[in-house]
Amino acid sequence: MPDATIDAFIAGLPKAELHLHIEGSLEPEAMFAIGKRNKVTLPFKSVDEVRAAYAFSRLQDFLDIYYAGAQVLLHEQDFFDLGIAYFRRAAADNVRHAEIFFDPQTHTDRGVPFAVVADGLLRAMAVAERDLGVSSKLILCFLRHLDEDAAFATLRMAEPYVDRIAGVGLDSSEVGHPPSKFAGVFKAAGERGLHLTAHAGEEGPPAYVYEALDLLKVGRIDHGNRALEDDVLTRRLVAEGKTLTVCPLSNLKLCVVHDMVQHPLKRMLDLGLKATINSDDPAYFGGYVNDNFRAVAHGLGLTRADFATLARNSFTGSWLGAAEISKNLAALDAYIEGGGVSG
Ligand code: HPA
Ligand code: ZN
Repeated sequence: MPDATIDAFIAGLPKAELHLHIEGSLEPEAMFAIGKRNKVTLPFKSVDEVRAAYAFSRLQDFLDIYYAGAQVLLHEQDFFDLGIAYFRRAAADNVRHAEIFFDPQTHTDRGVPFAVVADGLLRAMAVAERDLGVSSKLILCFLRHLDEDAAFATLRMAEPYVDRIAGVGLDSSEVGHPPSKFAGVFKAAGERGLHLTAHAGEEGPPAYVYEALDLLKVGRIDHGNRALEDDVLTRRLVAEGKTLTVCPLSNLKLCVVHDMVQHPLKRMLDLGLKATINSDDPAYFGGYVNDNFRAVAHGLGLTRADFATLARNSFTGSWLGAAEISKNLAALDAYIEGGGVSG
């Protein structure tokens, strides 16, 4: 029988978000407001026209608009505003911890200094922790459509911030840009003490997931949907307890799945994969993290027990230290034991 109270249960569930591109949280209203104050002309006349353009049939359709939107971001205050707007929205969804991607090359290639981007985001993170009680970590993403030398140059720019960056990731156009292209820079990042993750198996084949594991030595896989096409790989991901940061509404919008009732999340859980639910680029894909939870609740009939597992996975798959993970799990357990009612 469907659980009529599942939306309320999801709303109060303490959770972490592990797959969120901060540039993908730029709402059209903010794009126009920041564009106006920076005198940057957008290729759209109105907020409605922007939203109407958000009809994608593949990843690249989205990326073209996402990179265009990011052009309005020029100053430290812009990156602060972008960051704090996301954290406010995340706090409303009871996100207790967020590990957020940023794409420095999208900005440094336009002449915006790395420090401007990082300072604005780090200031938003500090305010979110202080005022909203949301902890966070920053993940520097390399753009895979660019070459490895450019990724190395970005890692060098990040050097003064390396103690404030938790890890590196790999995003942008997947097919034709396999993880092997970035083996050297991931090795260097790992030696610098950074955590490692990579987008793999969103549009790319299972071979890219193997490469992310074997050549990049990642601890998490971002998306990972297509890993399910390979039973050996699936069993390996289960055995190694690798966290998959799954993004249901993104998958729907980018036609990775054609209907939420066909989304592989339920199968992932049934197979014992350590899946989590995330929003990816919420301003572009029609929803923040709780919208994603609700979409799979209604599309796949996931239960409270499934959502408790997903929330648990989000904390244990995070890069928080053991004490912080325990604290978050205790809050999660208290919520579940209290019958899913916020205390
Ligand atoms: N996939 C790859 N690159 C991205 C994405 C995504 O979903 N969002 C922002 N950059
Ligand atoms: Zn992503």
